[in-house]
Amino acid sequence: MTQPLPVEIRGVAKAFGTRQVLDGVDLAIGPGETVAMVGPSGGGKSTLLRCINGLTHFDAGEIQVGPHRLRGGHQPPPRETVVQIRRLFGMIFQDFQLFPHLTAAGNIMEAPVHVLGMSAAAARQRAVQLLARVGLADRADAYPRELSGGQKQRVAIARALAMEPRGLLCDEITSALDPELKHEVLAVLEELKADGLALIVVTHELGFARRSADRIVVLDGGRVIEDGPPPQVFEQPQTERARRFFQQILA
Ligand SMILES: Nc1ncnc2c1ncn2[C@@H]1O[C@H](COP(=O)(O)OP(=O)(O)O)[C@@H](O)[C@H]1O
Ligand SMILES: [Mg+2]
Repeated sequence: MTQPLPVEIRGVAKAFGTRQVLDGVDLAIGPGETVAMVGPSGGGKSTLLRCINGLTHFDAGEIQVGPHRLRGGHQPPPRETVVQIRRLFGMIFQDFQLFPHLTAAGNIMEAPVHVLGMSAAAARQRAVQLLARVGLADRADAYPRELSGGQKQRVAIARALAMEPRGLLCDEITSALDPELKHEVLAVLEELKADGLALIVVTHELGFARRSADRIVVLDGGRVIEDGPPPQVFEQPQTERARRFFQQILA
């Protein structure tokens, strides 16, 4: 059981050129909460996850991740703060981003060996354990090209878990998968939630969101337009914009 940690986002704003992509986002995520983030394409979901993870530096506002704080503005955050935050929150992407020249175990061993200074033998042992945790105990020596999309994504999850994070940021991690492979990845997320990891999941899987998320956050035009428990947001959205979005996605 991992100790959960809260995330607080206050007034975060980010423009790319003249385009205001995040327009004052406020969001508090309690310890161990699972938040499903949904909304129309271009609404700022990926940008917000990247800000939380220190991949994108924002213009204004602040993000508190446990004891670490990122501040918007001219000055980029200290490298050490970003490193600490990335250890607390692993990020997983739609396109897996595995190293093609490394096996499943090799991908998972990379950061423990190079960032944590773990011995190759210890990192390998841990990689095999993590692969078992995502249901891939027998694929340690397979290369990404030998794995299905669902398997690749589970390797990517195991790789993020190798840094012993307290939470995961998931950016549409099932969007590139065939329907029958989506559920094997979503099932792993549900287990991680049960283990106490905080999950911030950008997804179009409304069934999963309803079943597994503690809260649904709808981001549109760089703002949080809905934020509440699944039944409230899905059945009684407060904005016409969210109502239309749900109708479109369910159509
Ligand atoms: N690095 C970037 N440079 C310029 N524009 C960007 C960049 N990243 C994202 N954008 C723009 O920001 C807007 C929001 O993008 P994004 O955060 O990816 O939205 P979502 O994930 O909700 O679809 C889009 O209009 C996108 O084109
Ligand atoms: Mg996106």
